[in-house]
Amino acid sequence: MTHNREAALLAAKPWQDLPQTTASRLCCIERIEETHDVVTFRFEAPGEPVRFSYKPGQFISLQLEIGGETQSRAYTISSSPSRPYSISITVKRVTGGKVSNYLIDSLKPGHIVDVQGPAGGFNLVDIPADRFLFLSAGCGITPMFSMSRWLNDTRVGADIAFIHSAKRVDDLIFEEQLAAMVSRHSGFRLGYFIEQGACPDWRHAPVLPGRLSLTGLDALSPDWRERTLYVCGPEAYMETVEAMVRTAGFDMSRFHKESFAAPAHNGAKIEAEKDIGAGFMLKVGDKLHPLGEQGLLLEGIEALKLPIIAACRSGVCGACKCQVLEGEVERLSDMTLTEEDKANGMVLACSTRALTDISIKL
Ligand SMILES: Cc1cc2nc3c(=O)[nH]c(=O)nc-3n(C[C@H](O)[C@H](O)[C@H](O)COP(=O)(O)OP(=O)(O)OC[C@H]3O[C@@H](n4cnc5c(N)ncnc54)[C@H](O)[C@@H]3O)c2cc1C
Ligand code: FES
Repeated sequence: MTHNREAALLAAKPWQDLPQTTASRLCCIERIEETHDVVTFRFEAPGEPVRFSYKPGQFISLQLEIGGETQSRAYTISSSPSRPYSISITVKRVTGGKVSNYLIDSLKPGHIVDVQGPAGGFNLVDIPADRFLFLSAGCGITPMFSMSRWLNDTRVGADIAFIHSAKRVDDLIFEEQLAAMVSRHSGFRLGYFIEQGACPDWRHAPVLPGRLSLTGLDALSPDWRERTLYVCGPEAYMETVEAMVRTAGFDMSRFHKESFAAPAHNGAKIEAEKDIGAGFMLKVGDKLHPLGEQGLLLEGIEALKLPIIAACRSGVCGACKCQVLEGEVERLSDMTLTEEDKANGMVLACSTRALTDISIKL
């Protein structure tokens, strides 16, 4: 690092003393090929250096022009706020997926992207704990990696059990960095489940064959019932884990999960019931707008050009939470809302349709 660059970094301004809906531009500075279908992209702010500030586990929303259409997708920040001069996302190629394929095939160092955020309640500041159990599968490792790096950087002796499941050894993401964390941090324990192929005989992390099971969990982390659980992975994995620990008598107030995928029923239900919301008015403060044929609140908020992050547009990320003040609605998803949120009239704008004229607060 040159003297000038060092001085610029020390003088760097913080990125997010800004409100969370602020749009920013990021410049890709590095691509890291993690596996055959996963790439990490590292970004800095274009121009002067900034110190990125976010909560470990949060995501940003990328806005991209692809084939003449604007696409918006959420990606967890896989780097840690304890290393603040750059920010990374780690993207898995989804067969037929518009954005993941575009990023992996086209995004190169020097390219600029528009982002919104950071956002998301699945993070260690909003869900603190003393003893951690991170359970992830596939690309669901990204929030857990950020959280582990942050805890190990900021809390000496942090008590973390991290159990990751992958199809094959070749699919393991961040394997070397996690092995380095085991060697440097006495409170950090790592284990793997590998579904197919031979299991390596590693000293730093036991590897069990097959899928996560109660017997396997007891073997890798015998004290798991005393920990706070953070779970992220494909829907089927998360459903299995939730049912497994619930049946084992786990205190579910210490169970927290993040979903990357949309609930299957939403799109079909909206399509089948078009016209239901046409003609109703949306009121936000002193602004009014007629809702479209699906009656979705998000469409009206965006038409009014009001600031809102809509990272997944499918009711899974929780970024578009707002409060209904007056009027009747139908919730198509309330995945990230707590009982208290629901009692206070909170809804997810992307997955809530008006059944009458409606007034909301952002
Ligand atoms: C809060 C949050 C955090 C996320 N973090 C990450 C991350 O760190 N890394 C990452 O790679 N992705 C992450 N995602 C998923 C990401 O936002 C995109 O959904 C994903 O990259 C697929 O987008 P696409 O445009 O390529 O596919 P689309 O064009 O949207 O979809 C194409 C097809 O793939 C299916 N599909 C869409 N998403 C998935 C999925 N996640 N798994 C399996 N099938 C899918 C669709 O049903 C459709 O049939 C996150 C999502 C959320 C909501
Ligand atoms: S945009 Fe993700 S829940 Fe609405």
